[in-house]
Amino acid sequence: MKLTILGGGGFRVPLVYGALLTDRGEGRVTEVVLHDLDDSRLYAVARVLAEQAATVPDAPTVTATTDLDEALRGADFVFSAIRVGGLEGRANDERVALAQGVLGQETVGAGGIAYGLRTVPVAVDIAQRVARLAPDAWVINFTNPAGLVTEAMSRHLGDRVIGICDSPVGLGRRIAKVLGANPREAYIDYVGLNHLGWVRGLRVAGRDELPRLLADPDLLGSFEEGKLFGTDWLQSLGAIPNEYLHYYYFNRETVRAYSEVERTRGAFLRDQQAQFYDEMKHPDAAALTAWDRTRAEREATYMSENRETAGAGERDADDLSGGYEKVALALMRAIARDERTTLILNVRNQGALSVLDTDAVIEVPCLVDANGAHPVAVDPLPDHATGLVCAVKGVEREVLSAAENGSRTTAVKAFALHPLVDSVNVARRLVEGYTEVHPGLAYLK
Ligand code: G6P
Ligand code: MN
Repeated sequence: MKLTILGGGGFRVPLVYGALLTDRGEGRVTEVVLHDLDDSRLYAVARVLAEQAATVPDAPTVTATTDLDEALRGADFVFSAIRVGGLEGRANDERVALAQGVLGQETVGAGGIAYGLRTVPVAVDIAQRVARLAPDAWVINFTNPAGLVTEAMSRHLGDRVIGICDSPVGLGRRIAKVLGANPREAYIDYVGLNHLGWVRGLRVAGRDELPRLLADPDLLGSFEEGKLFGTDWLQSLGAIPNEYLHYYYFNRETVRAYSEVERTRGAFLRDQQAQFYDEMKHPDAAALTAWDRTRAEREATYMSENRETAGAGERDADDLSGGYEKVALALMRAIARDERTTLILNVRNQGALSVLDTDAVIEVPCLVDANGAHPVAVDPLPDHATGLVCAVKGVEREVLSAAENGSRTTAVKAFALHPLVDSVNVARRLVEGYTEVHPGLAYLK
């Protein structure tokens, strides 16, 4: 099995490779090809992978290239984990939005739209190349904003592209844990868009255990989402939202917190990662140790502004191990070995959520087997959630058409229609600001 990783010089690649190293079974990945535009990033990551593999017999081979077509040819799986514009771009997404008093988060609100506008054309180009050079490959999309980017790619790859995110998995795992349930035996009734979904139930042996959690303020306040949203609000909702809904339900506080920090998340990561990649230029640097230290710091500070506004304190030790790589590996195994399993993934709706059309990519539990991921039919969302999902899907569709037609007017429309952008004038200024700082938006005329 050959796995090609696009964004192969990216910081989280060793997580994926680490997961591959735990897989000893038949049909496992034996060959990893890293692709990146930047040679020195490839070199840095390859050094970490070499140290990871040092003690593992039959570790998957690793090669690196900056030639995209060469990387794609013959691939069985393609992971796409690219960052168009780099972390400098992410920091600019935040800065331009905050200057207008709105949120510039990587995936939510104005920041997510800006990031989507410059990523979609690149993702579409990749999808077209995959369709041509590796038509039987499965594409696993990590690239944020993951739902939107997956939908853009699905227009060229159909159901052969599947988007993944670790937030719903982490959320399900936390809820199962506080309820004393085995996450592997629990069915998580979750649905929405990427970074915009809700857990409405958790069934073990056919019985819904979530009402027990919602009725118990002590249990409810004992895990990340309870601390972030507050028990009263979770009880009012009667559901547990994805952590990214904190930006919606507490928008004013999060915007204020983000405007007051010395460095935004993107700027912090830009500096932190630059230091790591610099360190890797020294031939005798201990690559794996440096990587692990940097990773731990990144995970400990994840969503720290949100947690601060909510008085949520430090993250739980259990939440620091991510899960990103585990979803990817579980998905590949299910497809490659026909090991039927249920995973929450980003796929085309196909009628699962009746309020959206069949081609809309949603985040939903899927049955996965050798034929791919099949969304499970889910109960409708309540009106308030349906409203948000439809509004944001509408915005995503404007982003897709702006990217397709190169239309600045459509880009303004995308920003203006987002529930977290509060004026058409703000949307106009956002397009001004973003096109000034992002060369990747020069296509908007
Ligand atoms: C979560 C999200 C991902 C995001 C990751 C890292 O897992 O679901 O979409 O990429 O966090 O966030 P960070 O702020 O560290 O880049
Ligand atoms: Mn995510």
